[in-house]
Amino acid sequence: MEWRTAARLILQGSDTQAMAQAAQALAQQALQQAEPSLAELDTQAALATPSGFPGLPERPRLVPPQGLPRRSLHTAEGKAALMHAVAHIEMNAIRLALDAAWRFAGMPTAYYQDWLRIAGEEALHFQLVCGWLAQRGHAYGDFDAHHGLWDMVERTRDDVTARMALVPRTLEARGLDATPPMQQRLAVAGEADAVAVLDVILRDEVGHVAVGNHWYRWLCERQGLDPVSHYAHLCRVHRAPRLRGPFNRDARRQAGFSDAEMLALEAADAEVSVGGRRADG
Ligand SMILES: [Fe+2]
Ligand SMILES: [Fe+2]
Repeated sequence: MEWRTAARLILQGSDTQAMAQAAQALAQQALQQAEPSLAELDTQAALATPSGFPGLPERPRLVPPQGLPRRSLHTAEGKAALMHAVAHIEMNAIRLALDAAWRFAGMPTAYYQDWLRIAGEEALHFQLVCGWLAQRGHAYGDFDAHHGLWDMVERTRDDVTARMALVPRTLEARGLDATPPMQQRLAVAGEADAVAVLDVILRDEVGHVAVGNHWYRWLCERQGLDPVSHYAHLCRVHRAPRLRGPFNRDARRQAGFSDAEMLALEAADAEVSVGGRRADG
C-alpha cells in the first residue's frame, strides 16, 4: 500500500499496541527506500479525511486537562500515573507523526521519510513506557488522559507551515524542557528504570524537534517568510500555548533553534512572568 494511505489507515485504528507495531513496520519500509516509486509514495495526492477520524481506543477515558489530578511521586500509584501520562503523550506523538506524513501533499520525499521514521521512534517510546507500566501491573488506558495535543493538529490541518511551527517545534519542544525536571523527580523517587526510558525519549525528541525546525525553515524560505516573525503570527492565529521557562537551552540549540528564536522565547516568558499572569499551556 502507498505510504501516506497506509499512515492514514493506521490512524483509523483503535488498538494502540497494533498501531505502534504498524507504525514501526511502515517506518522500516520508508527507511529502506532511498527512491520510493509512485506506488510506494505518492507525494502529490491530496487525501480526504475519513469520518470519525482518528480512531480512538475505549480507554483511556479522555477528560479536560483540569480534570486530571496532580500526581504525587510518593506512591506507586502516583508514579504509574505520571508514566501513564508519558505513554499517552507518546501514543499521541505516533498520531502526530503519521498525520504529518499523510495529510500534506506536495512536499519532498525526505519530508515523508522523516515523519514516518519519527512515527516509528514514537512507537518505540510508547512500547518502552508500556513495558515499564507492565512491570508495575499497569497498562495504557488505566488512568484518565486528555486530548489537548490533537487540538493543535486539527487547527493546523490546512497549513503545513503552521503544523511544523506549532506541533513539533512548539508542543514537542516543550518536552525537551519538561523531561529533565521529571527525570530528577523520578530519580529522587528511586525510579532509575523510568529515568533510563526518559533518556532514550529525550535523545530522540531532540531529533524530532530538529526535523520540525528543518521543514519549518524550508517552508518559510520558499514562501519568503521571516521564520521568527511568522512564528509569532502563527502563535496568535492558532492560539498556541505560551511556553514557560526554564528552557532546556542545550537541547533546544541542538534541535536547531537560532539565537533570535531563543531570545524571543525568553522575552515572551519574561513578559508573562513580570505581568504575574502566568497562563498555563
Ligand atoms: Fe516520543
Ligand atoms: Fe517526538
